[in-house]
Amino acid sequence: MAQFKNEFLWWQRGVVYQIYPRSFKDTTGNGIGDLQGIIEKLDYLQNLGVDAIWLSPFYPSPMADFGYDVADYCDVDPMFGDLATFDRLVAETHARNLKIIIDWVPNHSSDQHPWFIESRSSRDNPKRDWYIWRDPALNGGPPNNWGSFFGGPAWTYSEVTGQYYLHQFCKEQPELNWRNPEVRDAMYDTLRFWLEHSVDGFRMDVIGLLLKDKDLRDNPPNPNAPPNLPANDLFSRLLQVHNMYLDENHVLMREIRQVLDAYRDRCAIGELWGPLPMWVKYYGEQGDELHLPFNFRLMDGMIWDAQRMRASVDAMEAALPEFAWPNYVLGNHDRMRLATRFGGQAQTRVAAMLLLTLRGTPTIYYGEEIGMEDVKIPPDKIQDPQGINLGPERTRDVCRTPMQWDAGPNAGFSPAGVEPWLPVANDYQGRNVAEQAENTTSILTLYHHLLRLRCASPALYGGSYRPLDVEYDDVYIYLREAGVQRYLIALNFSAEPRSLALPEFNRGEIVLSTHLDRTGDVALNVCSLRANEGIILAL
Ligand code: NOJ
Repeated sequence: MAQFKNEFLWWQRGVVYQIYPRSFKDTTGNGIGDLQGIIEKLDYLQNLGVDAIWLSPFYPSPMADFGYDVADYCDVDPMFGDLATFDRLVAETHARNLKIIIDWVPNHSSDQHPWFIESRSSRDNPKRDWYIWRDPALNGGPPNNWGSFFGGPAWTYSEVTGQYYLHQFCKEQPELNWRNPEVRDAMYDTLRFWLEHSVDGFRMDVIGLLLKDKDLRDNPPNPNAPPNLPANDLFSRLLQVHNMYLDENHVLMREIRQVLDAYRDRCAIGELWGPLPMWVKYYGEQGDELHLPFNFRLMDGMIWDAQRMRASVDAMEAALPEFAWPNYVLGNHDRMRLATRFGGQAQTRVAAMLLLTLRGTPTIYYGEEIGMEDVKIPPDKIQDPQGINLGPERTRDVCRTPMQWDAGPNAGFSPAGVEPWLPVANDYQGRNVAEQAENTTSILTLYHHLLRLRCASPALYGGSYRPLDVEYDDVYIYLREAGVQRYLIALNFSAEPRSLALPEFNRGEIVLSTHLDRTGDVALNVCSLRANEGIILAL
């Protein structure tokens, strides 16, 4: 019988829901969501059945990268509210037995942060070495060949002192020099500030980028760079060797963890990509680094393919040391919506069942629970610097549009007569929370059932995972098991019905179908799945 431990920490047992504050609920009528809006929707989230919310940045910011350019790590942008509202949000969240995780953006600040304003003012300013400044190359150009994620070189020249500063995102996002102990101390203090405000954890932005090669060596060319890259996409033309994921980062991860460990029950989540062997090291050799390095493998580079999904899950399960807890992210504010990426609404329902029945902490991106789709943004309305610099097809605005609450004006996001910062989806009158809450077969109802079942089932939130081999490549089946509780999850990725023989089992009870139209006992000598159907069977 599978081993089952009874004690789970909240971030192991729970489900995280990501809120992009700009797009959740606007209570001030400026077209941009705010913290009060989140407070007003906490009952919705509690009722949905998630356990924690993660807020993308709400710090004071000139919004060059919509909050990922932080001008003050210890305050709230007036656009979103103030510290008192934040404290109320924390109290209201905790009062509903939910946890609150906030974004922390340690790799770069805004160029309007007082630290950078000082740093760029003169070569001998005490904050000079808080950022990464270098002389021009011999030809007067940037100090090395690194490119920015958002197009163009990763360096911008400052006339004031005749040197370049490093920024791997917008030029308004200068990178902090994490080799400087004063920077480390100042940034750890920003963590403590929010820990004292009772946040339960941090999602740490591009955490693998903190340290760069000491000598800032050129990156080698990328032999697999896609053809037809935009001329300014210098980033994709290179292999990212010297600018990220240095082994030296692990010292910082342990320091960060120690800051959190001085408080009770706090959680460190990190944004990390990269190959499994490198990624898994971010849990720490002794489990003393990140609690959850985000696992994007079912999102990035993934297509709607049962075997590829299974292979990804199995590889990750095999790579994890015993102490490491898995997690899955299918969508976020940087990637296409599930319905758009995986083919349509039928697929999103199967994807929801997958996400919420795998072993490990799931993160749901706001709006996925109603099947929101990418919204086509007219070129003159594009806001995202990535879309502006690298072309409209690269804009992330498509997945950041206002939450669709009801069929009223602006989908209930902003008051009538206000123009939201990004357009509301055209389909909002048919696709919104109010409508789906009344509909017993909506995707929102499916999420409700999945979340309730997961929360109530040790096998689902904490049990073992075992994939089963089946004769169809487009079906993914696995067992989740804890003590006497056993579930079999069968997901049909195909648009055709599939009948499978499951000789290992006798009978089962369907507890949930993604179609929400059947339950009850079935014989498992032939298990029939309809097109794009997923089922959870209690064995
Ligand atoms: C990753 C964030 O998810 C993304 O939205 C942001 O643009 C970059 N980091 C830079 O902070």
